[in-house]
Amino acid sequence: MFRCLLLRNLHKALLMIDSLLSYHPEAALRLLRPGRLAGLQHALEAARDATLNDVEIWQSGEPVPPERQPLDAGFIQWPEELLADLQSNRGESLIARLESTGSRLRQLADSLVVLGIGGSYMGMRAMFEALRPSCWNELSRSERDEAPRLYFDGWNVDSDRQHELLSLLERRAVASPDAPAGRTAIISISKSGGTLEPAVAFRAFRDFVEQRFPGMDRDLVVPVTGESGRLRSLAEAAGYRDVYSIPEGIGGRFSVLTAVGLLPAVTAGLNIRSLLQGAATLTDHFRRAPFEQNVVLQFVAVCHAFEADHGMNCRVLSTWGSRLEAVGLWYDQLLSESLGKHERGATPLTVVNTRDLHSRGQQHQEGRRDKLITNLLPGPPVLAPVAVAAHRLDQDRLNQLAGTTLPRILDAAIAGTNQAYAEAGRPTADLQLPGLSEHSLGQLFQMLMLATVVEGRLVGTNPYGQPGVEAYKRNMQANLGIR
Ligand code: PA5
Repeated sequence: MFRCLLLRNLHKALLMIDSLLSYHPEAALRLLRPGRLAGLQHALEAARDATLNDVEIWQSGEPVPPERQPLDAGFIQWPEELLADLQSNRGESLIARLESTGSRLRQLADSLVVLGIGGSYMGMRAMFEALRPSCWNELSRSERDEAPRLYFDGWNVDSDRQHELLSLLERRAVASPDAPAGRTAIISISKSGGTLEPAVAFRAFRDFVEQRFPGMDRDLVVPVTGESGRLRSLAEAAGYRDVYSIPEGIGGRFSVLTAVGLLPAVTAGLNIRSLLQGAATLTDHFRRAPFEQNVVLQFVAVCHAFEADHGMNCRVLSTWGSRLEAVGLWYDQLLSESLGKHERGATPLTVVNTRDLHSRGQQHQEGRRDKLITNLLPGPPVLAPVAVAAHRLDQDRLNQLAGTTLPRILDAAIAGTNQAYAEAGRPTADLQLPGLSEHSLGQLFQMLMLATVVEGRLVGTNPYGQPGVEAYKRNMQANLGIR
């Protein structure tokens, strides 16, 4: 008991980075053998060194050793590089240029369609759902601070859905042909420039913009792509005013903090400087903090120990409230595509509570013992908390809760769920955000990307590249007779 308390307090004290995100695995640690994490220290530090060494290899410009290929370590120092670029080049920096394109798109259009799939889509969706009001597209333009309504397409092949969106945009264009209210801007994202789903969607939305807003497509369409490829060639031929590059050494699912995520984010009114600062702070912590205090290394150690010792190869990211589900889906992709190789790699699963306590909760409580549950806790609500009201009709017996706030009810659900899992010997850990903001989300993205790479280096799986995804693409293209 005393050891548990000591451990808990030690971890609470050590795993806080100022007011930044923190990791609390105490409840899970009780189910591991004593000293298990400490026993992983050496291997984890070596994996961190290997992860950081990748950056040096990548920066040196020397040929990448065959056993390290593919190598997409550019995301690690990227936030720091962008902030340094801002310091030295101010108005000419990439951040300033993104901000200027974002403000141009905001002035010109009231609807923004972001096209992309996988790593070229999920990060932006995660930011949007976490940081914008859930009813964003229903708000008036002034309530949105003149930022556009936001839609995503190209992330699937769904004829009805695309038809519905095009029809809606068409109706807006007809109603206000010469005003921002009627106009649509497009950000078309594909690193390779050849992925079929977003390419097909781009053709449809580009046609719409060209026909409805003649002469304005050069301003309303912004491609974000690699240095070469079909989208790059198309952008050059069309003469779009702005085209943003996805750096060579940053892979799709690690690209959320490049123009891939930053351009839609800044257009939607998010503070991209703060996002990058959060990520840079986390990288610095990852580099310097000793093993016991390092949130990235501790997170990987706990995940790895449960998988290796207890066969817990299902990682449940249990998000509380509604805003973090898409962050979880972004992480599902990151972990699956990075470590799901060589017939290995844990299976990620995102749940949203309390919603999924009424569906998956049964299995988590009493099903197969293959799950490590990480609670992703958003911190205090952004707005004034809603409270239960008293009412003269008390048949629902809720007057006893009159004045109790929803955050208080959620806290009771979190504590009650963790207690139930602990009593059943089910491991849980908490990943606590200090609140939902660009800064905390920047930290979280960087933490989970670093953790994924470190785990790959720990278990001998190259986290970069996704050869398995190419198989379906080849077959689909062959089925369509595409050359
Ligand atoms: O992580 C990855 O690299 C993939 O998920 C890609 O982001 C996805 O396949 C989309 O590729 P692209 O941006 O080339 O269209």
